[in-house]
Amino acid sequence: MKVIKKTIIFGILILFPISIGIISIVAIKKNTLEIPISQHENGRLQYAIRCLSCHGVNGKGTRKGPALNDGIWIYGDGSIPVIASIITNGTPTGQMKGWGNKLRKEDIYALSEFVYGLGAERD
Ligand code: HEC
Repeated sequence: MKVIKKTIIFGILILFPISIGIISIVAIKKNTLEIPISQHENGRLQYAIRCLSCHGVNGKGTRKGPALNDGIWIYGDGSIPVIASIITNGTPTGQMKGWGNKLRKEDIYALSEFVYGLGAERD
């Protein structure tokens, strides 16, 4: 009797909520619209999520990270491949960590293009 009671309580309290949770997650995933987003918009979005806190609005810099829109580069020439390499591997001093294993290749490329564009927008 005790075992049956325990099994029923376990089912109601643990298994039932878990199954409802899994069913809702599957349902939400099925209904999520994949809205196509341009590379530039993706770059802007990724920047806002991951970089803005240190590099500031429009890449103007903060106390936590240098400006990226002034045409002055600590590392390299500010070209898209160099920017992409810094984003992937971090800076040589390790003050900025790399994002290579956190971001998809297309996000890194979108970010590089976006950061490159920040410099172009300054004048
Ligand atoms: C935690 C703060 C922080 C975050 C978040 C951050 N950075 Fe940095 N970033 C820095 C610092 C600090 C440096 C300078 C490090 C050094 O001199 O070694 C730097 C350097 C750079 C440089 C080289 C600048 C130059 O003048 O050569 C680029 C490009 C860059 N970051 C891009 C990005 C991008 C793109 C992101 C978002 C994916 C990002 N950073 C996120 C702090 C940050």
